[in-house]
Amino acid sequence: MPSSALAHDQIPVLSAAEFEKISQLAYQHFGLDLSHGKQGLVAARLGKKLRELGLATFQEYYEYVKADRTGAAMTTMVDYLTTNHTSFFREPRHFDFLVKTIYPALRSRSQINIWSAACSSGEEPYTIAMTLLEAFHAEVAAKVKIKATDISTRVLEKAKRGVYASERFQGVPVDLMQRYLLKGQNASADSYRFKNEVRAMIDFGHLNLMEKLPEDYRCSVIFCRNIMIYFDKPTQQSLVQRLSDRLEDGGYLFIGHSESLNAITHGLDYVSPATYRKPGHSKSGQIGRS
Ligand SMILES: C[S@@+](CC[C@H](N)C(=O)[O-])C[C@H]1O[C@@H](n2cnc3c(N)ncnc32)[C@H](O)[C@@H]1O
Repeated sequence: MPSSALAHDQIPVLSAAEFEKISQLAYQHFGLDLSHGKQGLVAARLGKKLRELGLATFQEYYEYVKADRTGAAMTTMVDYLTTNHTSFFREPRHFDFLVKTIYPALRSRSQINIWSAACSSGEEPYTIAMTLLEAFHAEVAAKVKIKATDISTRVLEKAKRGVYASERFQGVPVDLMQRYLLKGQNASADSYRFKNEVRAMIDFGHLNLMEKLPEDYRCSVIFCRNIMIYFDKPTQQSLVQRLSDRLEDGGYLFIGHSESLNAITHGLDYVSPATYRKPGHSKSGQIGRS
């Protein structure tokens, strides 16, 4: 129980010892690197949560998170510490590359697996589905399976609903929206919902990338964009290695354009900014460079 609740406008003080404990927890469970000058960020973001829970100190919050055996409090903590910022057609070169180079090389296959490994509220996997449908029409719906995962159950709920406010579609061509989205009615008139054809291509699920990655993930393409920045080098190294193990020979890894694999050792070939390829050839269809 809280020792004394905070006044609603009171900002709790995060001591160095509390910061250390919370950083360790975030590192051990999620690989988050909070070491470099992130004390202010932790205090500001988790301070809100403290107030919501009626807790008076970060020590109490730390104990509350550790005591919650369901893991839900831990997941909420990471949600507050990371950003879920994303958008449709973010870093569009990857989608061009997918449509112009990767998919044509794999077109003869009966199934093509793509994984959006930190999908946030779903804009990334929906963009993958829309761009492929737009370029290759109905055949795509039958053969492309998009796995979309994130650690945050909150953003995943939104992703699964597939409903977005109209302002989220700024810059998305109107004809694309007409083909793949339905405009809401009455009270929902300011939102759009993805049509079933698009939704059916995506399988959303919860996954902490720090944990063992499912054995049955075998992908031609992995999008792991704008998440590596939260991790320190050893964590990045281990993650890239484990993602590479889930890529088929000749498969591609996309990372964020502000991220880089320069400082880590990996067995992937650099193709173009934020685009890497596992050496070798895929079984049917050679996935080549652009
Ligand atoms: C900035 S968003 C990136 C979304 C999308 N990939 C993009 O580039 O627009 C980062 C996402 O990583 C998720 N995340 C953070 N730590 C994670 C972890 N250990 N495992 C899986 N997802 C994680 C966050 O919940 C957040 O939704």
